[in-house]
Amino acid sequence: MLNTTRSQEIFTAAQKLMPGGVSSPVRAFKSVGGQPIVFDRVKGAYAWDVDGNRYIDYVGSWGPAICGHSHPEVISALHEALEKGTSFGAPCELENVLASMVIEAVPSVEMVRFVNSGTEACMAVLRLMRAFTGREKVIKFEGCYHGHADMFLVKAGSGVATLGLPDSPGVPRSVTASTLTAPYNDLEAVKELFAANAGEIAGVILEPVVGNAGFITPEPGFLEGLRELTKENGALLVFDEVMTGFRISYGGAQAKFGITPDLTTMGKVIGGGLPVGAYGGRAEIMRLVAPAGPMYQAGTLSGNPLAMTAGIKTLELLKQPGTYERLALITKRLSDGIQAAAREAGLPITGGSISAMFGFFLCEGPVRNFEEAKATDTVRFGKLHRAMLERGVYLAPSSYEAGFTSLAHSDADIDATLVAFRDAFASLA
Ligand SMILES: Cc1ncc(COP(=O)(O)O)c(C=O)c1O
Repeated sequence: MLNTTRSQEIFTAAQKLMPGGVSSPVRAFKSVGGQPIVFDRVKGAYAWDVDGNRYIDYVGSWGPAICGHSHPEVISALHEALEKGTSFGAPCELENVLASMVIEAVPSVEMVRFVNSGTEACMAVLRLMRAFTGREKVIKFEGCYHGHADMFLVKAGSGVATLGLPDSPGVPRSVTASTLTAPYNDLEAVKELFAANAGEIAGVILEPVVGNAGFITPEPGFLEGLRELTKENGALLVFDEVMTGFRISYGGAQAKFGITPDLTTMGKVIGGGLPVGAYGGRAEIMRLVAPAGPMYQAGTLSGNPLAMTAGIKTLELLKQPGTYERLALITKRLSDGIQAAAREAGLPITGGSISAMFGFFLCEGPVRNFEEAKATDTVRFGKLHRAMLERGVYLAPSSYEAGFTSLAHSDADIDATLVAFRDAFASLA
C-alpha cells in the first residue's frame, strides 16, 4: 500500500489556504477520487512525491516536459540566463531567436507574439479573429479547451467536464452568445452553422488533435473540410496547438496533417517548463496587433528571458535528428501495450497515439467526439488511476485528458509501465 501520509498532510493544509487546495482544478483528483499526490521534485521521466515514492510520469507537467523533466541542458541554459536577470520589460534578443525558430517550424506562422499562457494566447487570437474580419461570432467544438477566458467556457472539455459544470457561473451570457458550438468531427454541423449565420462568423477554432476530451483524432477529411469551409465563408481557421505544437511533430499538427490554418496558438513545449504562450499566423493578420496595428494586447512578463531561454533550448533538443521517430515509436508501443493489457483482462478499451501524445477510453469505441467520450466508464478509470499510482505510474487524473511521453522515457520505463497496466487491469477485471 502506497504511503502518502505527507501528501495528505500538505493537501489538508492546502485546502484551508487555496480553493480546493490547488492552483488549477484537475490537480485535485476530483474525478478519480482519493487525495492528490504532492510532488517534491521531477527529473527525466520521473516524479517523486513528498513521501519519497517515485512515479513514471505520463503527464509531463501537462505537456511542456517533452524532453524529460529538468533536462540538464535546459537547466544549465537557465542558470546562465538567471545571472542576467529574471525579467527585462524591454526588448531582448532571445525573443528574436525563439520567434525565428517558431516561424521556421510552424507552417502558418509568419509573425508571432509571445504571451504567458495558453489561455492568454487563445484570448488574444479571438480578439484578432474579430479585429481582422470585423465579425463577432466564432465556432468552437464540444470538448475542445482553449483556456479559461469567458468566451471559451462553453462545452470546454476536461477541467470543466471533470467538475460536472455545464459552464461556469460568472460568465455573462452576452459574452458566450457569440460562441457557437459543433460536435468534433462533424463537418455537416459546421456547414449548418455557417449557413444559419451567413457573413457573421469570424472563424473556427479547434484542437487539431483533441487532448482535452481525452485523446480524439480528426477523421480523414475533417481538417481539410474546415479549411475549405472557412475559405468559402471569408472566415479564419485557427488551430489551437497549445498542446499539439512541437509535440505531434516539430511543426505541430498542421505540419503532420498538411493543413495550414490562418492563425495558431501555442504554449507548453515552447516554454520548456516556464510560463509561456504565443499566437502567430499570416503577417497581414498579425500586423493588426499593437503597436504595429490597432488591436491591443500586452503583457508585463511577456517574452521574458527565462521562458525564452527554456523554450529555445527545448526546441534545439527537439530539432535533433530522430527525436520524433523515437517519440512515436515508444508512444505507439505504450499505447498498443495498454490496449492489449486491457483486452487480456477482458475489459473494453479503445485508444491510440500520434507522436508523443496518446490516450484511451474504457469502452469499445470508436470515440469521435465529446458525447462519445462522456459515455465511457469514468468510475473504472478512477480505480485504474489509483491502481497505477500504487504501482508507480502517474497518469493524468481524469479520463478526459491525453497522456504525454518524453524523450526521457526509456524502453525499460515503457516495459515497467506495461507490467503495471497488466497487473492493474487484472485487479479491476
Ligand atoms: C489546447 C489547449 N489550449 C489552451 C490551453 C490553456 O493553456 P494554459 O493552461 O497555459 O492557460 C490548454 C491547456 O491545457 C490546452 O490544452
